[in-house]
Amino acid sequence: MSTTTTENLSSHLPDLPSSTLDRRMLMIYVHVPFCHSKCSFCDWVQAIPTKDLLRKPGDPVRERYLSALCHEIAQRGAALTAAGHVPYVVYWGGGTASSLDERETERVMGALHDAFDLSTVAECTIECSPDTVDAAKLRFYRGLGFNRVSSGVQSFDDDRLRRLGRRHSADQARRIVHAAREAGFDEVSIDIMSGFPDQDADEMNRTVEAALALPLSHLSLYSFRPTPGTFLRRSLDPAERRDYLRRQQVLFTGARRRIEDAGLPEYANGYFGRVSPFAAMYFQLRADTAGFGSGAISLVDQRFASHQKGLLHRYADDPLAFDIDVPAGQDRVLISFLQAGLAMFDGILRAEWQISTGTDLDEVLHRPAIAPLAEFLRGRGLVEDDRGIRLDRRIAGLTLIELAFEMAMSQPERA
Ligand SMILES: C[S@@+](CC[C@H](N)C(=O)[O-])C[C@H]1O[C@@H](n2cnc3c(N)ncnc32)[C@H](O)[C@@H]1O
Ligand code: SF4
Repeated sequence: MSTTTTENLSSHLPDLPSSTLDRRMLMIYVHVPFCHSKCSFCDWVQAIPTKDLLRKPGDPVRERYLSALCHEIAQRGAALTAAGHVPYVVYWGGGTASSLDERETERVMGALHDAFDLSTVAECTIECSPDTVDAAKLRFYRGLGFNRVSSGVQSFDDDRLRRLGRRHSADQARRIVHAAREAGFDEVSIDIMSGFPDQDADEMNRTVEAALALPLSHLSLYSFRPTPGTFLRRSLDPAERRDYLRRQQVLFTGARRRIEDAGLPEYANGYFGRVSPFAAMYFQLRADTAGFGSGAISLVDQRFASHQKGLLHRYADDPLAFDIDVPAGQDRVLISFLQAGLAMFDGILRAEWQISTGTDLDEVLHRPAIAPLAEFLRGRGLVEDDRGIRLDRRIAGLTLIELAFEMAMSQPERA
């Protein structure tokens, strides 16, 4: 068994900046709530009515959404710039950010440039799906200033892709990775998933080997969360939940071992390869987050604000009105930050936590609503020291899968 220390855990982390009280770093997130399909496992878009999710360029509802998005960027962006926030990373996600056509993409990028000075941005990612990009579009992205592509793939088994409701083949996914490299992207990542209810180890191994054969700088491995509202959740028999969880843990553990053996180090639970500044800074609360769009969350000046997912029409009516706007020190906000932050093997950092949330980490772990979670984590080997808190990387994956699985299964299935 390895003798991992805090030092060598963080040794491959790049030198990432953190906000200080007089220099606020900023992560900019842009939410695109459109896709070409509604996949059976996806818990990012289950709240978006299918009719809205599948709206195409030129559709009046989509046009109204994009106008609202540009308006929000202009208004809130100008205020953030005037207050001295320094953009460091930009991430376009969704939904499927690459479902925007070239004209729409240029329009939103133009709004960002008008509102922010983006010359300080180190990483600018566009999230894609293989059915929405081709070589020409990837060259267009590079020309527009994106320097990282992250594509959902989920599986390299054509039958599985079809059953998941994906609109691309395994070969299409391979082709877009090569095309991204040819377009000049050094940073290319894909997402694959493990733990579908009827998945076996052979199928998982084939997907992992297919991913490892590609010229990737980064690979994300997600264990399926059976979130209520997803089509796939309905196929689960609650009586067999212990077996599902066990299978998920076995498949994930086997896959991560093979990926690390192939030379892609794991720096956060299921994140392998070159560290993404966006992921690391987001997990460790090193910067404020300005999220724009209907499903986006913001953490600015110790306040947590969000536009609820799925409410496209309400957002289009008034993109400056948040559905939630509360102090970041509220219990349920902090629980979500704890869960996200512990995915990072370098852990949650005390100073960054204090600056971003305005709370003391020890005080938070003792709160009545949070203490049971802290006890659960201590039972799984939580490390607590001057630097912060973190999970032992050898069991972090199993613990976080269990936590996400049980949280999803404890919510009732929607009618
Ligand atoms: C917001 S989605 C965007 C990906 C892109 N639209 C695509 O489909 O190719 C980001 C990733 O979340 C992961 N994901 C979605 N639903 C999930 C679930 N229920 N459990 C675990 N991971 C999930 C998938 O791997 C997906 O690629
Ligand atoms: S996985 Fe991607 S394409 Fe499929 S529904 Fe989710 S966001 Fe849309």
